[in-house]
Amino acid sequence: MHFRYVLALFALALPTCAQDKKQIDLGRYLVEEIGQCASCHTPKTATGELDKSKWMKGAVMDIQPLGPPPAHWHKSSPDLTPSGKLWAKWGEGAMIKYLRTGLTPSGKPAGPPMPMYKYSAEHAEAVLAYLKTLK
Ligand code: HEC
Repeated sequence: MHFRYVLALFALALPTCAQDKKQIDLGRYLVEEIGQCASCHTPKTATGELDKSKWMKGAVMDIQPLGPPPAHWHKSSPDLTPSGKLWAKWGEGAMIKYLRTGLTPSGKPAGPPMPMYKYSAEHAEAVLAYLKTLK
């Protein structure tokens, strides 16, 4: 291929790569720092740290209210990685809607202790872009 064409291809590809990386970095920040998703969606090791080898693979909750738990209290959280059942069942559109509204495809609110997040479109898409990078 002619050198000039190679340069032109790089010029086209670079901004999209940079854009993707920026979106993924924003998603990682929203998941790891703001949403604290891992604290509920990642199992813990015997010594109580988040198990990095099962990052966001779903977990049994180790929290419950001191009083009677609210109705529909969930004792476990689902796998949020793209290979998990949820992605296959919901698809990207439903995942975005859930993060934007806190409502499932059938219109039910997120089951506690899952928070009802109300992310903007930009932030919901960034969270998904990050989740897609997980194994
Ligand atoms: C305080 C614990 C907690 C935190 C924090 C949390 N989750 Fe959850 N999540 C849960 C539990 C428990 C469920 C199961 C609830 C249900 O099925 O209604 C769940 C369910 C989900 C579901 C599937 C809902 C369904 O009906 O199947 C998605 C998607 C999800 N969480 C995404 C996230 C994302 C993304 C974050 C971070 C931005 C997050 N969660 C943070 C506990 C949590």
